[in-house]
Amino acid sequence: MSRSKKCVHSDLSIPWQQLVLPLLILVSISLVNCATEDEEKKLYIAFLGDHPLVNSNSLDETHIHLLSSVKESYDDAKESIVYSYTKSMNAFAAKLSEDEVNKLSGMDEVLSVIPNQYYKLHTTKSWDFVGLPVTARRKLRTESDVIVGLIDTGISPQSESFKDDGFGPPPTKWKGTCGPYANFSGCNNKIIGARYFKLDGTPDASDILSPVDVDGHGTHTSSTLAGNLVTNASLFGLARGTARGAVPSARVAMYKVCWASDGCAAVDILAAFDAAIHDGVDIISISIGGGGNQDYTIDTIPIGAFHAMQKGIITVASAGNTGPSLSSVMNHAPWILTVAASGIDREFRSNVHFGNGKNISGLGVSTFNPTQELYPLISGTDAALNSTTVEEARFCLQDSLDPVKVKGRIVHCKVLASGAESVVRGIGGVGTIVESDQFPDVAFVFMAPATLVNGTVGASINDYIHSTRSPSAVIYKTQEIEKEPAPFAASFSSRGPSPGSKRILKPDIAAPGIDILAAYTPLKSLTGLKGDTQYSKFTIMSGTSMACPHVAGVAAYVKSFHPDWSPAAIKSAILTTAKPMSRRVNNNDEEFAFGSGQLSPTRAVSPGLVFDMDEMPYIQFLCHEGYNASSLAVLVGSKRVNCSTLLPGLGYDDLNYPTMQLSLKNQREPITGVFRRRVTNVGPALSIYNATINAPAGVEITVRPTTLYFSRVLQELSFTVVVKAKPMPSGQMVPGSLVWKSSRHVVRSPIVIYSPIDG
Ligand SMILES: *[C@@H]1O[C@H](CO)[C@@H](O)[C@H](O)[C@H]1NC(C)=O
Ligand SMILES: *[C@@H]1O[C@H](CO)[C@@H](O)[C@H](O)[C@H]1NC(C)=O
Ligand SMILES: *[C@@H]1O[C@H](CO)[C@@H](O)[C@H](O)[C@H]1NC(C)=O
Ligand SMILES: *[C@@H]1O[C@H](CO)[C@@H](O)[C@H](O)[C@H]1NC(C)=O
Ligand SMILES: *[C@@H]1O[C@H](CO)[C@@H](O)[C@H](O)[C@H]1NC(C)=O
Ligand SMILES: *[C@@H]1O[C@H](CO)[C@@H](O)[C@H](O)[C@H]1NC(C)=O
Ligand SMILES: *[C@@H]1O[C@H](CO)[C@@H](O)[C@H](O)[C@H]1NC(C)=O
Ligand SMILES: *[C@@H]1O[C@H](CO)[C@@H](O)[C@H](O)[C@H]1NC(C)=O
Repeated sequence: MSRSKKCVHSDLSIPWQQLVLPLLILVSISLVNCATEDEEKKLYIAFLGDHPLVNSNSLDETHIHLLSSVKESYDDAKESIVYSYTKSMNAFAAKLSEDEVNKLSGMDEVLSVIPNQYYKLHTTKSWDFVGLPVTARRKLRTESDVIVGLIDTGISPQSESFKDDGFGPPPTKWKGTCGPYANFSGCNNKIIGARYFKLDGTPDASDILSPVDVDGHGTHTSSTLAGNLVTNASLFGLARGTARGAVPSARVAMYKVCWASDGCAAVDILAAFDAAIHDGVDIISISIGGGGNQDYTIDTIPIGAFHAMQKGIITVASAGNTGPSLSSVMNHAPWILTVAASGIDREFRSNVHFGNGKNISGLGVSTFNPTQELYPLISGTDAALNSTTVEEARFCLQDSLDPVKVKGRIVHCKVLASGAESVVRGIGGVGTIVESDQFPDVAFVFMAPATLVNGTVGASINDYIHSTRSPSAVIYKTQEIEKEPAPFAASFSSRGPSPGSKRILKPDIAAPGIDILAAYTPLKSLTGLKGDTQYSKFTIMSGTSMACPHVAGVAAYVKSFHPDWSPAAIKSAILTTAKPMSRRVNNNDEEFAFGSGQLSPTRAVSPGLVFDMDEMPYIQFLCHEGYNASSLAVLVGSKRVNCSTLLPGLGYDDLNYPTMQLSLKNQREPITGVFRRRVTNVGPALSIYNATINAPAGVEITVRPTTLYFSRVLQELSFTVVVKAKPMPSGQMVPGSLVWKSSRHVVRSPIVIYSPIDG
């Protein structure tokens, strides 16, 4: 019995299957509860010290030998190991008892042992909206040398977005593989790598052991990142336009780790990082989340991303879909580029016309044309099968409605779980009006005529139904309409402050993540719901999962202009050129919702100045945060880090981060934070930058010097920002900024001051 299945179920109360899959919420398996089960062997990852300079086969042997000392025999050890991570790190995954874990943890060579756990997955138009037109300036030759690695649900090689017409052979640096796989037509010069990892050994009946995408999520994210131009793409005529990725000439490598029933296992995610780093990808895009939300050393995404950063590879990850509650942001390690979702200027709405002459406008994608002027309307409660199913009938749950009462009618349901329209359709209903306040800005795709209304509108529909003897309604086919104002922070997008550190502003940036059109798998209907017969080469999805590849795409775009830039420099370029998002537009959480603001692709290529750094400041930061040598070594890959011998880092946060966050200690004392920063001139040799400070009320911000004189390219100059904040009520956040302006460039750093809750 695998631990996953046993522990997952109770926590799965997910409202909309569609949002869950594309989005990325950890199937919050409670490790504590599961750990107290019987002495069954479970999957763990053991991290070892320095990567010895031996070939990987003998490293495998080393792992088996090490493990045999806590197992009964060599053979027993060999059988228990399910994977050796030997390419970019030194670790192994094995089935262990609690006793064996304890023994192993006590060994000198072993840095730490963490349990496996399961994570979840978290347009045509969007690229024009953020300002990367088809005609944008490109460096085609270097762009075709950029390899983007995605860790996701797989890919659909037959999609037009991944045809290789006009592509030369893979760049010579590429060391990855692509085997012949089941149901997978194979790689080409566009998809140059495809692999899958399923190390827990339990078969997934709903999936295929192959990099093929049976879910659609990985095909969608890959095409947003690097898909070819495909003209006349649409979802049954909606969102019609040219679908394309940020870098249509770049190459794609897919590492499938997410499985239809099981989700995404930590052991597989780590294997994907290990392989991608070795294979030679330039960018890693991961729209998956979960894991430990505070400690960077028990979550395989920050662990893998740290190793990637050491090799010059930037990791871009989704912030999660658990907003708008505060401190819900995931993938928030400072060496990760953390992406929030914003909405663009269009919506998908259906007109609903009622027998009393009134009209309302519902949200969602319903591609069906009505054949009658009006249909009888009933509420789910009134259509209950019998007196005991009334509560369930309110939500139109399976087996709660009376088919006789539903047949030929439109049913009004309160939505608890996804698929109300499938239930109604399955017993002969002609349409569904679902009511929910949970996702006010997302258009879900429906498998039958349906639309979504909020509670206020739902109440008026209920009044109408009970005010006449023969209520009636009709749901029209969805239309695309313009929405003002935009961009706005998506309601579901996870918010800061970071649960990992009080000193770092997260999320980093916002990018389009609502109603994004991109390529889809031919292996699944649009909703995956029972009775759905809609298939499409393109579909609309929402989530920070969709926002992430927009930013990863721009990172690849920047990389195509500046192949030698470090991950920190690329991140800095993207953050300091972001467009500040308006605070008046439904963005009450401000920087905690959107970080530096909205992604601005063409400006990111020419940022003027960058905040660059290598690995060392991150180590100093981790020391400052209280990480000890052995847990640090899980990230750094070496046991030699001794925090007490490290020179102090750069001021309050030790990092040369492009944004600043100062947290009060409590609500009574004022606080002063000194941020030391160093910028590198990547603009014209002779450049003069003047500082402009925007300080919020109650906060004093000074910068020294106030002018930076550069005389050559790549020259570095330092400055110091002092932030003095008066006490603020608990939970309050006030944003300011520091902007360096030259005659050609604007380099903006948000400065956030926060009073922690119960601080
Ligand atoms: C996968 O391939 C097998 C063998 O060719 C075939 O039977 C099966 O239907 C395929 N599955 C899908 C989802 O296409
Ligand atoms: C675009 O696609 C639609 C079907 O979605 C088709 O009817 C139409 O002819 C196509 N237009 C062009 C210009 O290819
Ligand atoms: C309601 O919608 C119907 C059908 O689209 C339309 O004919 C009618 O003019 C609308 N009524 C109002 C009051 O907008
Ligand atoms: C109501 O219907 C459910 C589902 O068919 C059935 O299990 C239950 O026994 C019924 N209750 C009554 C009181 O008829
Ligand atoms: C509910 O939806 C209606 C129509 O879209 C809108 O006018 C109204 O402001 C919404 N109410 C709330 C509380 O969001
Ligand atoms: C290092 O920190 C980890 C996690 O906080 C802890 O489990 C471990 O015991 C610590 N090791 C030492 C040597 O203090
Ligand atoms: C770390 O450095 C300090 C100061 O040099 C020294 O006292 C301590 O023993 C070192 N710790 C380890 C584990 O090497
Ligand atoms: C910067 O400030 C100096 C001195 O105040 C001024 O002469 C110069 O025009 C300013 N430059 C820019 C780009 O604003």
